[in-house]
Amino acid sequence: MSHSAQDTVPAIQTIDVRRVYQARGGRSIGGAQAGKGVTALDGVSLTVQRGEIFGLLGRNGAGKTTLIKILTTLLAPSGGQAYIDGMDVTRDVIKVRQIIAMVSGGEQSGYGILTVREQLWMFAQFYGVPSKVAHARIDELLSAVGLGDQANQKVYALSTGMRQRMNLCRALVSDPEILFLDEPTVGLDVEASRAVREYVRKWMGENPRRTVLLTTHYMFEADELCDHVAVINHGQIVAEGTTDDLKRGLQEHARFQLEMAEWLPAFTEMLRERDGVVDAQTEQRNDRTQLRLALLREEFIVPTIASINEAGGRVLALRRIEPTLEEAFVRLVGDEAESQREGEEAQR
Ligand SMILES: Nc1ncnc2c1ncn2[C@@H]1O[C@H](COP(=O)(O)OP(=O)(O)OP(=O)(O)O)[C@@H](O)[C@H]1O
Ligand SMILES: [Mg+2]
Repeated sequence: MSHSAQDTVPAIQTIDVRRVYQARGGRSIGGAQAGKGVTALDGVSLTVQRGEIFGLLGRNGAGKTTLIKILTTLLAPSGGQAYIDGMDVTRDVIKVRQIIAMVSGGEQSGYGILTVREQLWMFAQFYGVPSKVAHARIDELLSAVGLGDQANQKVYALSTGMRQRMNLCRALVSDPEILFLDEPTVGLDVEASRAVREYVRKWMGENPRRTVLLTTHYMFEADELCDHVAVINHGQIVAEGTTDDLKRGLQEHARFQLEMAEWLPAFTEMLRERDGVVDAQTEQRNDRTQLRLALLREEFIVPTIASINEAGGRVLALRRIEPTLEEAFVRLVGDEAESQREGEEAQR
């Protein structure tokens, strides 16, 4: 394959991937899945380009871990195709495994009787990393995630968060090109979470071929780290794009909050009648007016403020209300109870 052709091959690609977990051993508890099994992935098509940090967002049970297990060759899809760097994950298992690594937040792997350094060293050996390179890499990784002082401590003596940070080092010691992080910062303290995010970003910056697919329940983390995100719900992708795309896509109107001198309730009606104003709400704040505006488009703010001035109002402060990724997420996947009902209806 020519170099340029190879560059256009996506790091990760899935086409209509499905996965059904068969109900095991007779009747399952909770009638909905009796006999039919659980459809964890229901036709997932995704493309992740080289150099991207891609976030997969979804509530508990949405199918995130299932998709990661398929992409990392640990689980077979029930249908569809999945490729890593153009290689089929069900056929080129060995080659795929050579360029990927996976860490999952909750995992408790590791050989307790080894020290942290011995454990990482052993993994480096599995992947044939030369000694000198391995030692240097282990030192760098341990200090990056704040485990420098634990290098000679036995693995069983690590706290949960320390063990998790060690697992990230383990994944990186083989120098993978494509890294899967399933909830990498769950259970980590503030400082350690930050160190992990910072290191992931630094690691990505060092080589343009590196790619990360991560899952997280922390929307700020996705917002901070990810170039692109996809939202998965009941095994289906319900939204995809940059985090800004998602926020914007869900915002029907441009929302503003204004502070006006004096309490001027009469402005509400006057503003509602203006072109471009979808809604206006006033609220008394001490002797001032707090005005919330929903406008058809952002540019309507200029004539709206002009009309406030003409009517004798004085604007003291103006703020655009930006939607957050969390709001976008909640609007997309609804609340738990609502989605439970939808799910049950779909099963019928
Ligand atoms: N080994 C299994 N056997 C049967 N069903 C499973 C199995 N693993 C997962 N499931 C089911 O598949 C669906 C998707 O689970 P998955 O673990 O992929 O979700 P997730 O998005 O990773 O959730 P979380 O945010 O809780 O980690 C769920 O309904 C789950 O109950
Ligand atoms: Mg999961």
